[in-house]
Amino acid sequence: MRAVAVAHPNVALVKYWGKRARAGNLPATGSLSLVLGGLATETSVRFDPHLARDRVLLDGREDAETSARVSACLDELRREAGVGLRATVESRNDFPTGAGLASSASGFAALVTAGAGALGLQLEDQRLAEIARLGSGSAPRSLLGGVVLLTNRDATTVCEQVAAPADWPLEIVVAVTTTGPKETSSRIGMALSEQTSPYYDAWVETHGADLAAGLAAVRARDFPALAGLAEHNCLKMHAVMLTTRPPLIYWTPATLACLHRIQEMRRDGVPVFFTVDAGPQVKAVCLPQAADDVATALAGIPGVLRILRSPLGEGARLRANPD
Ligand code: DP6
Repeated sequence: MRAVAVAHPNVALVKYWGKRARAGNLPATGSLSLVLGGLATETSVRFDPHLARDRVLLDGREDAETSARVSACLDELRREAGVGLRATVESRNDFPTGAGLASSASGFAALVTAGAGALGLQLEDQRLAEIARLGSGSAPRSLLGGVVLLTNRDATTVCEQVAAPADWPLEIVVAVTTTGPKETSSRIGMALSEQTSPYYDAWVETHGADLAAGLAAVRARDFPALAGLAEHNCLKMHAVMLTTRPPLIYWTPATLACLHRIQEMRRDGVPVFFTVDAGPQVKAVCLPQAADDVATALAGIPGVLRILRSPLGEGARLRANPD
């Protein structure tokens, strides 16, 4: 009754910030993302008749909030399998946790994949996506690989692959500017934005057009169109964050310096654009021939601590021979 799964974090080009209804963690909008194959989460789930409660270790540590979310996902899997056994969950990231690198997305995608595997469940993709969503709204996107579209249909989450990694081999250069966890989690931050930002309604109203434009750009492999659209959508989300009370200022001076440098490079003809989530790290998305120059340029910016590089990756999967 044990299985191990690997999943990669993802970064949204058209983002999710806000929920439609609190119950079921349903996002207010759809989103479009890239899976970062160079960063990985590995999660082991073992159901055990001797346990009285679920035990969850994230990078070796227990955390009450994460444990509650993990148990909510496991409860759904237990219901599907008709078992009541509790589980030990051990999850490790090979990148900084909780710092705006979507560790919750890869974590919950790996969790539900391993959990279903350990219980011998063969769930439909959509059901697995719904269960992953309970853990994190961005997690269903890490179940698939490459470029992924998440949409709400009625009260369910539907994910589809828009391009496989080989269809459009983009590369992502991540500039890490802090390594600690962020001050305000996405979940708390987006609830505050919904309640207090005067721009929140405009964000939701204009989102459908951004999603359609982003999707069209990916389908046409139109890098300049995707660049302009993704940067606009990212800055619009940060405008909502900045106008939240209390304000959500996720950037550091190094974050902003990276954004300026990336825009400068693009004006000089380098195929690169930026996106930033609820944290200070900058993800520079580029065509592969530009990745070395982008990595060198960002590494030279004061305050950039580390550069991570990633091609597009595959969706969550079970490890065939876990140790
Ligand atoms: C800024 O999926 O972490 O990264 O559903 O509350 O767990 P919860 O939020 P989460 O939010 C992701 C927010 C974002 C944008 C995105 O990935 O689309």
